[in-house]
Amino acid sequence: MQDSQHTNCASRAPNCRICSQSLRPVLDLGRHPRADSYRKPGDISPELMFELKVGICESCQLVQLIDEVAPELMFNSDYPFRTATSQRMQQHFRKTALSILELETPADTAPFIVELGCNDGTFLAPFAELGHDHLGIDPASNLVSEASERGINAQTGWFNLETAAAILKSSRPATVIYAANTLCHISDLSSVFKGVDLLLSKDGRFIFEDPYLGDIVNLCAFDQIYDEHIYYFSATSVDMLARKFGLKLIEVEHLDTHGGQLRYTIGRQHQTQSSSVLDVIESERTSGLHTIERLNDFAETVQVRRTELPKALRELAAAGKTVAGYAATAKSATILNYCGIDRNLLDVIYDTTPEKQGRLTPGTGIPIEAFPQSTEDFPDTFLLFAWNHADEIISRETAFQEQGGSWLQFVPSVTLTLNPAS
Ligand code: TMP
Repeated sequence: MQDSQHTNCASRAPNCRICSQSLRPVLDLGRHPRADSYRKPGDISPELMFELKVGICESCQLVQLIDEVAPELMFNSDYPFRTATSQRMQQHFRKTALSILELETPADTAPFIVELGCNDGTFLAPFAELGHDHLGIDPASNLVSEASERGINAQTGWFNLETAAAILKSSRPATVIYAANTLCHISDLSSVFKGVDLLLSKDGRFIFEDPYLGDIVNLCAFDQIYDEHIYYFSATSVDMLARKFGLKLIEVEHLDTHGGQLRYTIGRQHQTQSSSVLDVIESERTSGLHTIERLNDFAETVQVRRTELPKALRELAAAGKTVAGYAATAKSATILNYCGIDRNLLDVIYDTTPEKQGRLTPGTGIPIEAFPQSTEDFPDTFLLFAWNHADEIISRETAFQEQGGSWLQFVPSVTLTLNPAS
């Protein structure tokens, strides 16, 4: 379907992108705009739309989007997300970087760390400070410039087999290849894994972390589903993925970042597999994570949220309460569009990212503004779109809570909480 305001921007994957077997549809969230496409007021050009639908591969169990938006429409010189926005994520990446330096490596091997999707260089900064060889690759040229300005060795581009071969022309094999919130964004994982296989040293490790299917389903965090997130990984599916490319999943760790993630460590066949791999795969099997029944339950709960959240906003309005959105996250595009929340239900969303301020939310046209200077100008209630940073935000916004401010949250359920820090 196309009309004057909307135009299609997606292609369809009729089969699993990894093993080519059929995809079984499990969730249909309807038509959506690009999540990170913040429009200027008055822009009446057609908005790019696609069908936000999720399927599971009946063979390798990889949960994935059925339609996909062309990557160059999503990751380019306008990419607005910066890792450094969150203090907690800065700490997370520093800790991760230091733990990578402590990994056991053959005695004479100096570290050479390659990061796929290096964003603003937050993760690589400690390696640069300590003088270790490193390289960041990211398609967002604006972020690569920022990383370079802070002394990080970074280049604009997509990581794939060709990039890996080009790196090897002037560098030694990587001791660690790392990617955070990046792999789930890349449709052509085949080329990434072939590139990893080529670039990784004999005893190297490929470590990546992404939102975990188990948390998405258990918390009903369906806002993790948007155009940029093509894959929703689990230990079961990543184990299959690694095997397909002759590699081995050797460790799995659960992280509480971004609302629940798994960190996967992939190595070569001779490397020892920790018991964590079989433990997590077994827990996924016993909880029925990949079963149609479990995924249908999830889809039903998603539908319930669609009614509950607008209802909560209408009730607050009826009670005379002012409400604003906290953070115009990419995830919020799914919530707003799926639940039909537009300017009639939410006047404004505040966000710290300069590129988003003065723009409108995609599809729903809600103005995005900088946070008011004084908490006295805050609303009665914040609808917390950045729920994955709830601890950090709620512990920081003490003045808002002391003046009686409340938080409306929708993960894991729709709740209105007065001062959840107390
Ligand atoms: P994301 O969820 O799409 O990654 O984006 C996070 C957005 O949330 C980003 O635009 C910055 C915004 N944000 C705030 O405005 N305040 C905060 O305290 C945090 C953690 C994020």
